[in-house]
Amino acid sequence: MKEVTKDTIKVLLSEEQILKRLDEIAAQINKEFEGESVHLVCILKGSVFITCELARRITLPVTMDFMSVSSYGNETKSSGRVKILKDLDESIEGRNVIVVEDIIDSGRTLAHLLQLLSHREPKKLKLCTLLDKPDRREVEVNVDYIGFKIPDAFVIGYGLDYMQEFRNLPYVGYVE
Ligand code: IMP
Ligand code: MG
Repeated sequence: MKEVTKDTIKVLLSEEQILKRLDEIAAQINKEFEGESVHLVCILKGSVFITCELARRITLPVTMDFMSVSSYGNETKSSGRVKILKDLDESIEGRNVIVVEDIIDSGRTLAHLLQLLSHREPKKLKLCTLLDKPDRREVEVNVDYIGFKIPDAFVIGYGLDYMQEFRNLPYVGYVE
């Protein structure tokens, strides 16, 4: 990828588009879990931004926990092996868990993570991702709530990084 500076970044999804979609996803969650509570599991670090926005839009009782995993690969490609850098603080047994991801690319990170979490016997285990790159999928993952399906391009912003930078861009952008 060529040098990334703010003026080489093109907007793929605006803040307005992202927030509108999160309104819709939250409405869906509110309906699906009516009368219950949900436990949001934020996968650090990229998902912090959407987890907060989603949590603010959910009208049910919400709890949150955080997990950090690394996929042993380089910064643009996943190797498929996953290491837990920070585990959840709380048990998820018997809870309505919604795992929140920033992007699903090969699907390897998520496939591994979901398998691991399902062994902890949550009542429900759902997956929400802001972005999905279906063309890149190597492992099948069942995603319950998808913000946007996007073409195979490297994207940054709204939590997504390029070498740990650009997470704070208020939109999702790409570099041509
Ligand atoms: P997967 O295991 O290939 O699905 O990898 C998912 C992880 O790779 C994400 O959580 C991101 O950290 C990273 N990733 C994949 N595609 C992109 C991208 O386009 N921009 C930034 N990070 C990405
Ligand atoms: Mg990353």
